[in-house]
Amino acid sequence: MPVKSTVRKVVFPAAGLGTRFLPATKAQPKEMLPLVDKPIIQYGVEEAVQSGIDNIIIVTGRGKNAIEDHFDVNVELESFLQQRGKVELLEEIRKISNMINVAYVRQGEPLGLGHAVLVTAELVGDEPFAVILADDVIDASPPALQQMMDVFEKVGGPVLAVERVPPDQVSAYGIVDIDTSIDLGRGVYAVRDLVEKPSRDEAPSNLAIIGRYLLTPDIFPALRETASDRTGEIQLTNGLRKLLKQRKIFACEIAGTRHDTGNKLGYLKACVYFALRRPDLSEAFRAYLRSERV
Ligand code: G1P
Repeated sequence: MPVKSTVRKVVFPAAGLGTRFLPATKAQPKEMLPLVDKPIIQYGVEEAVQSGIDNIIIVTGRGKNAIEDHFDVNVELESFLQQRGKVELLEEIRKISNMINVAYVRQGEPLGLGHAVLVTAELVGDEPFAVILADDVIDASPPALQQMMDVFEKVGGPVLAVERVPPDQVSAYGIVDIDTSIDLGRGVYAVRDLVEKPSRDEAPSNLAIIGRYLLTPDIFPALRETASDRTGEIQLTNGLRKLLKQRKIFACEIAGTRHDTGNKLGYLKACVYFALRRPDLSEAFRAYLRSERV
């Protein structure tokens, strides 16, 4: 049977509890925190759509209903905006529900990123698919996922987005070891090994996985065979390590700006970054930042 190469589906793991942002996340999902006026998860969904993918699978858990409501039609709100003649806002609101076909699957227990991907096996089926970790918001042109799909077409195997991070940050990421004897062009590497959150001393490099994966369906059996780690979680990095014994896996550096909105400082920086790029806000906001009040 020929290998299916078109990527049509993106998985968004979104079942995490968001404890880093308590109390803001006590009653709302962290994925719904806004960067200016758009929830974090919408940035990732727009990246998928701009990369030509509109089938979205969101892995949710308890207390995540706001995500489902956000991507659904809101008839009451639409007729209110219509009556008031707020045409632009109406368009904006309609765009959100019109842009994607969305399916939801519950993770049940928080058993790790690998487990979150595994619960989508039935919905993904036997075809390549992408995973976006919404916390990592990437401003890039072409979009990060599009850049990865271009690499996928050339190398014909799983592609992980990576970025060089300072040595004191390697323990927060999955780190890849690359085979420097294989030349695949600028910023594209063959992966030799992967390790989840190594200490600074154990890290094989400073190339960190940054929340974008293009995977092939053979990741599912690999994940089923992957043991839980010390914390009881099934790590996607460990599943990929298992898969690496059977096939080649690739990494590519993304041309663009990444924000880790999963921690407070990164979140605040992202708010400033996107506000400064908004035509309706940038001038006044820049003046405010320059003023003595800050
Ligand atoms: C997860 C992955 C890690 C990856 C990171 C990117 O970790 O397990 O390999 O480098 O996302 O953001 P988390 O940030 O969920 O702890």
